[in-house]
Amino acid sequence: SAYETILIERRGRVGVITLNRPHALNALNSTLMREVVAAATDFDRDRGIGAIVVTGSEKAFAAGADIKEMASQGYADVLLADWFADWDRFAALRTPTVAAVAGYALGGGCEVAMMCDLLLAAENAKFGQPEITLGTIPGIGGSQRLTRAVGKSKAMDLILTGRMMGVEEAERAGLVARVVPTERLLEEALEVADKIASMSLPAVYAAKEAVAEAFESTLSDGVRFERRTFHATFALADRAEGMAAFTEKRKPNFTHS
Ligand code: HXC
Repeated sequence: SAYETILIERRGRVGVITLNRPHALNALNSTLMREVVAAATDFDRDRGIGAIVVTGSEKAFAAGADIKEMASQGYADVLLADWFADWDRFAALRTPTVAAVAGYALGGGCEVAMMCDLLLAAENAKFGQPEITLGTIPGIGGSQRLTRAVGKSKAMDLILTGRMMGVEEAERAGLVARVVPTERLLEEALEVADKIASMSLPAVYAAKEAVAEAFESTLSDGVRFERRTFHATFALADRAEGMAAFTEKRKPNFTHS
């Protein structure tokens, strides 16, 4: 592969990105960020791909931004290079992204998992924002996305103490869509991704965009956006096919148009 820090694979209509810096628990250095964003953008442009799975190893999804790379940087360095801004392009993908998290998802690792549209966690997963223990704060959206996911009190607890949270707590708090046995994590993530990828791609884009809007707008603006987007699905051949298939008691044959 053309990549140094990730593995990529196509499984039918699903693109899989595996973070692969095992000696550093998949710490996110600048090469890895560039590669994940490039690979995800390529999948996003590919109409043959209907969902993207992002995963790590059994020991670590990612143990954070690369502390050794960050250690020597000064304020002007990180400001001028706009550190971590490229991750915004990952968050803006139109293709649904499924994070399959086993082991440590700390700091930037937790933040990248939260940037994905849905998060499946293995029983051994551990989440945390330990930046405070390094004298810094989350920098890839953690203070915003964790707070939206679990509420202010638990977000403050995690971000101010730097403690880790296990899967039971993470699921109870609403961070995680499903908890699965560790050895079944990838299988289950691929099943979810396959299911999503079997739907009409333009309808899936519309659904993802509508849910994402809930984080960006007021309720009345969001509901109006949803309704207009719903109306727009009536221009899709797949919408006509889906409803015809239901009436005729058969499976729909979506053509992504
Ligand atoms: C660079 C890292 C790393 C990281 C682990 N490693 N995490 N290198 N950046 N974030 C490296 C270790 O230095 C070590 O390399 C190897 O990976 C294995 O890690 P160990 O610590 O030996 O493993 P273990 O004892 O099992 O402990 C696992 C761990 C611990 C609890 C996850 O590694 C840890 O606390 N990591 C840092 C977690 C963290 O603070 N993340 C937040 C980063 S800041 P060697 O060469 O010694 O074998 C962040 C901010 C984002 O993400 C934006 C704002 C700045």
